[in-house]
Formats: sequence, C-alpha cells, structure tokens
Amino acid sequence: MNKIEVRNIYKIFGTRPERWLKAAQEGMSKEALLERSGHTLGLRDISLSIKEGDIHVIMGLSGSGKSTLIRHFNRLIEPSAGQILVDGIDVMGLKPKALERFRQQKMSMVFQRFGLLPHRTVLDNAAYGLAVQGVRRAARNERARHWLEQVGLSGFEAQYPHQLSGGMQQRVGLARALATDAEILLMDEAFSALDPLIRHEMQDQLLALQAKLNKTIVFITHDLDEALRLGNRIAILKDGELVQEGTPEDILLSPANDYIESFLQDVNRGKVLNASHAVTERPLTLTMRSHPAHAVDRLLARDYDYAAVLDGKRLAGVLMRADAQRAAREGARDISRYLSDMASVPASAGLDEVLAQLLRTPEPVAVTGAQGEFVGLLSRSKVVELVTPGAGTSAPSEAEAVAADAPGSVSVAVPEGEPSAAPKQVA
Ligand SMILES: Nc1ncnc2c1ncn2[C@@H]1O[C@H](COP(=O)(O)OP(=O)(O)O)[C@@H](O)[C@H]1O
Ligand SMILES: [Mg+2]
Repeated sequence: MNKIEVRNIYKIFGTRPERWLKAAQEGMSKEALLERSGHTLGLRDISLSIKEGDIHVIMGLSGSGKSTLIRHFNRLIEPSAGQILVDGIDVMGLKPKALERFRQQKMSMVFQRFGLLPHRTVLDNAAYGLAVQGVRRAARNERARHWLEQVGLSGFEAQYPHQLSGGMQQRVGLARALATDAEILLMDEAFSALDPLIRHEMQDQLLALQAKLNKTIVFITHDLDEALRLGNRIAILKDGELVQEGTPEDILLSPANDYIESFLQDVNRGKVLNASHAVTERPLTLTMRSHPAHAVDRLLARDYDYAAVLDGKRLAGVLMRADAQRAAREGARDISRYLSDMASVPASAGLDEVLAQLLRTPEPVAVTGAQGEFVGLLSRSKVVELVTPGAGTSAPSEAEAVAADAPGSVSVAVPEGEPSAAPKQVA
C-alpha cells in the first residue's frame, strides 16, 4: 500500500510562481527560468509513491530539491501544482486544525543539525514532541525513557545536549521522533553531520529499529553508499527533477543515464549486490527419488556434468554424471545414495564474499535462502559481470552452461528481498 504519494508536483520559488508555472511545465530550464524571471525552479513534475514499511531514500546533490520535496509531505511547503496524498488523504485539503493534528501525529522529522533544545535535558528533549501533543508529564517522560533506552541512551536522561557527542545527540533526535509514535519518519540528512564510523553505527541502529518498528521512513542523503545501504527504494533528484527511481539493484544494474552512471562509479558493487542476483536462470534439478536412468537421460540431453538435487525445497546435494551412470549400472531404485555434498552460499551474501568463495573452489556452488531452501545455482560469469560491469563477457563457464534451457527442466524463481539470516552451508 502506498503511504505517501505525490503526483506531478511543481514548486517554483519567487514572488509570482503561478505566472511561471506554464513555462516550467513546458520545459524551460532551471537556469533560463532564473535568468528570465528571477524565480527558482525547486521541483519539476515529481511523481513518487512511497510504500508503507519501506525505507525510501531520496538522494541528490546539494540544491537538487530533496528538502523541498519532503517538506511537501507534511505541507511545510505548498506545491505550485500537483497533488500530495498521505494514506490516501489529500493533504492540500486539510483545514488548519486537521493539518496541525496531521503534522503532530502522522509524521515526525529528524534533522541534520539535531534540532535539540540546548537548555532542556535529554529527557525533556526526547519528550518534546509528546509535550507538543499535550501528553501529560508523567506519561511523556515514561515514553521518552523507553525510547532513549531503545537508542542506547539510558543513564543520560538528566544531561544536556552539549554534554553529548554528535552521535549521541542524533540518537536523542531519533528518540524524540520515535516517541510520538508517528507512522512516518522524515529524516533530512539526519546522519550527514556525523563522523563516518558513528554514521555507520547509526545506520545499523536505524535498520535494527526498523526491523522491529516497520515505520515508513523517508530518508534523505547525498551519499550513495548510505542510500544503497538503507534504501528499499531510492529516488534520485537532479536540478529538481526525478532522474531515476527504483530498488538499489535496479539502479546499479540499469542506470537510467550517464548522470546516474557517473554517480555509481565508485560504488562497492560487491557489497550491494548479493548471490541472489547471480543465479542461473533455469538450472536442472533432480529430486532424491529421481530414477537413475531418468537422471542420466536429462544430464545427457543437456550435456551437463552435474545437477542439483532437492529434498523438498531444500538442497540435498549434487549428482555428478559419472555417479548417475554408476547408479544406473548398479540398478539402484533412486539416486539418493549417489549424491555428493554441494557447496552453498546464502542468497544474502554479498558478491565480494561470493567471489572469494568461487576463487577457492572450481566446484559448482548453490545459492540457498534463509530456511536453507534452494534458490538456484551460482553463475560464475554473472558474478564477474555484476562486480565488474563492462569488463567483457568471457566464454560461458561450467556453471553458466547449467543455465541453458531444456524441456521439462524445473525452473526455480529467485525470491525477491531475501531475508538476511545466513543458512548453514552444506559443505
Ligand atoms: N525558500 C526558498 N526560496 C527560494 N529558493 C529556494 C527556497 N528553498 C529552496 N530553494 C531552492 O530550491 C532548490 C532546492 O533546494 P533544496 O530542496 O534545499 O535542496 P537540497 O535539500 O537537495 O539541498 C535550490 O535551488 C534552492 O536554492
Ligand atoms: Mg536539504
């Protein structure tokens, strides 16, 4: 379900924005508009859907319109044209009282510069949003304590902001935002002022909290690594326009244009892409009860040296062609006693880890899901292609050959959004 939806938003800053809307709609550039009219194009024709429970990142360089965009969500900024829906409600239609309630209850914001009140204690700062909502002192302090504990700040309640480090101050900001119990968190460059190490810790903490809370989080950053690390989806803005929107994989695997590509140059692809992105399309699979003659037929039909063998959904092992032939000669009822162990990697394993494993073994490698279920066979050439795009595709490797199609093959879909728990390895 869409939690936030904006449709065809334009924002022009200046004294007579309505006079220049048409020019902006007809495509006048940001520079030309400024020169001709003294008006600044903040946003041009932005449409975006933000799903409930997602961390949706909005990324772009300074001045690209990120803050302008999220301020539309709670109508801190009014659009020059376009529509804003939150939970299906047209935000522009809210009367002043309703708008006030909406701002206090639906969304909370976390800012880059923490926005703490210097002369109030950590506890009072964390309870601030609740005080604004009119929650009584005892109740709001209790909730503020709870959220301070959640962000790891128990024991600091009586301190003042200046006594805390930047990371700790931002944790107070986060506790304050979470304490109001708003369904939507708007985080505007919330971690940008922090040192890299602290920043990484805060990202981990946000991901851990989100796994429990399942809020809708709109997270602004100008940092691509942060975007790829946190976002379920990422929207990239440039000069007030939406250049590309999609999952981190969408963006890495098919950048919309040169601008995005130049952005992606320094990304550690091996960390962002995982084993599930590099499985063969339709591997040959057999079951424990497959008849040896049938197994041999299928291996020969595709000229394969081996096939993955499943026990239900789980990977049981690998059947080598020679062993299938031996099973047939020995008149075995099924292939179950002729399997070898098969190495596997979790679907969530980063391709850099996977690459290391591939270099250690020439054997086929399976990809398994969080419950140990078989996801597919790893394609060596895909791993290489994904980690170093444009490096030129080499001749199909052994594992790649397994991807070739054959009638009656069992196709295995790669599940989207692999859970990150790592299953035990078979070998
Ligand atoms: N209140 C304002 N008046 C005039 N121009 C503004 C105002 N707010 C933002 N802008 C302009 O809109 C553009 C987008 O700004 P902003 O949303 O703050 O970018 P970002 O958050 O991506 O750094 C910039 O060109 C900025 O100068
Ligand atoms: Mg900004």
